[in-house]
Amino acid sequence: MQEILQQLEEKRAAARAGGGARRVAAQHGKGKLTARERLDVLLDEGSFEEWDMFVEHRSADFGMADQKIPGDGVVTGHGTINGRLVFVFSQDFTVFGGSLSEAHAEKICKIMDQATQVGAPVIGLNDSGGARIQEGVASLAGYAEVFQRNVLASGVVPQISLIMGPCAGGAVYSPAMTDFIFMVKDSSYMFVTGPEVVKTVTHETVTQEELGGAVTHTTRSGVADLAFENDIEALLQLRRFIDFLPASNRAAPPTRPTEDDPERVEASLDTLVPANPNRPYDMKELILKIVDEGDFFELQPEYARNIITGFARMEGSTVGIVANQPLVLAGCLDIDSAKKAARFVRFCDCFNIPILTFVDVPGFLPGTAQEYGGIIKHGAKLLFAFAEATVPKVTVITRKAYGGAYDVMSSKHLRGDVNYAWPSAEIAVMGPKGAVEIIFRGDLGDPAKIEARTEEYRQKFANPFVAGSRGFIDDVIRPRSTRRRICRALAMLRQKKLDNPWKKHDNIPL
Ligand code: HXC
Repeated sequence: MQEILQQLEEKRAAARAGGGARRVAAQHGKGKLTARERLDVLLDEGSFEEWDMFVEHRSADFGMADQKIPGDGVVTGHGTINGRLVFVFSQDFTVFGGSLSEAHAEKICKIMDQATQVGAPVIGLNDSGGARIQEGVASLAGYAEVFQRNVLASGVVPQISLIMGPCAGGAVYSPAMTDFIFMVKDSSYMFVTGPEVVKTVTHETVTQEELGGAVTHTTRSGVADLAFENDIEALLQLRRFIDFLPASNRAAPPTRPTEDDPERVEASLDTLVPANPNRPYDMKELILKIVDEGDFFELQPEYARNIITGFARMEGSTVGIVANQPLVLAGCLDIDSAKKAARFVRFCDCFNIPILTFVDVPGFLPGTAQEYGGIIKHGAKLLFAFAEATVPKVTVITRKAYGGAYDVMSSKHLRGDVNYAWPSAEIAVMGPKGAVEIIFRGDLGDPAKIEARTEEYRQKFANPFVAGSRGFIDDVIRPRSTRRRICRALAMLRQKKLDNPWKKHDNIPL
């Protein structure tokens, strides 16, 4: 017995040593933590239960028979974050560059299968040179096994990828199919083909960071949700993020006790919307003032900034927030913002998270770039996402709600449960000026007449009461009472039950 215990300790020590001191030092030299150090930061102290520590690859080619490191380049298991169960895999770059072998893939698949069965999030810490080159097609098969599980787990348990090193080639598609991607600046990158191939094929010269770094993917491509300065910041923010998410599609959103009074009145909101309808204001101010303790976890803050998405809590329970941002493109909907918000709305709907929508939208962004880029299809994504969502939906129109964009933004007609408007709301087919220039085109030569017509249109339509008279708005509320009214609406909706007709799945305009 003593001997076997000794053997066990030796094997454990070998697994914990990963690729050895030299490679660990190289990892630290790049400003990166090792796979195990990352798990220490991510998980509650002492909560990690490791699986498959003794798994080794089965490859014999290219001298691999003599090179076996227990664990085979990925640390897997489960633990807790603030007491809540999560499954994790953390790729170990010090072992064959974190490359994915058949055995390495099997370890990831095992925890994904278990997570789906018990209903807990899967977190992947990615740091890998891609397919294990010595294994060839066995490694590609391993990737495909992971991909298949990403798809089956989608909508069942939250899946989050934290990219903390290389992620290239087909390997990018596993994170791409997860719900959220976080990246670390300067040390992580994602691309389908690297700078060398790009140079050969398109003659473009581009660095790794420019092509697929954290800044690129959180500002230009929209592939990633957030970029962090270093490993520690990324892992600590991931802990904070997990607190907002339900464990699975069978679980209710998590709640946490709050001192913030749901009846709290915020008088400063009465003057948030400027008197001049063409002047912008910061929609984030409204969000921060009405959510519990001003705690808002924003996603994609630097991408498609004309729409805001993120999680917060109201009366202790998670809500997803979607809001037009008048500070950017006057809050217009365009291709990027529609895609960003649609994916967020669908995540909330998968995981029973109520959606809170703040509307100040003058319409869809005009122009050839938008039309040629397919705004029709992409705008439809957001319309589709709001329309199919069966979770509680509460909407507040703060100012403009014009045209098709009014319909799209979680309107009453798309089964909005509670739709409020501030007194400053203007709910109409379009703004008064544009409307008059079309319907009184004959008077365009007479500025006085046009001015009078515009004022007449403004009086008639640039207010919330026409919509209110039809019941499209449930009430016109004072801005200062917004938190109280929303909390009451969400409390009323807690037991909401609504089902869509049975189907295999829908056919959202992709
Ligand atoms: C086996 C690998 C490896 C791989 C790295 N290593 N990538 N071993 N398979 N894919 C090993 C190296 O041999 C080295 O071993 C150690 O990991 C560290 O690698 P370095 O090159 O020293 O590190 P660095 O300079 O930081 O460069 C990292 C890197 C580079 C940019 C990732 O290693 C690289 O280009 N690797 C190959 C990437 C690649 O082409 N992968 C296949 C892509 S195709 P030692 O023993 O010296 O420490 C793919 C398809 C997936 O992934 C398809 C899915 C459908």
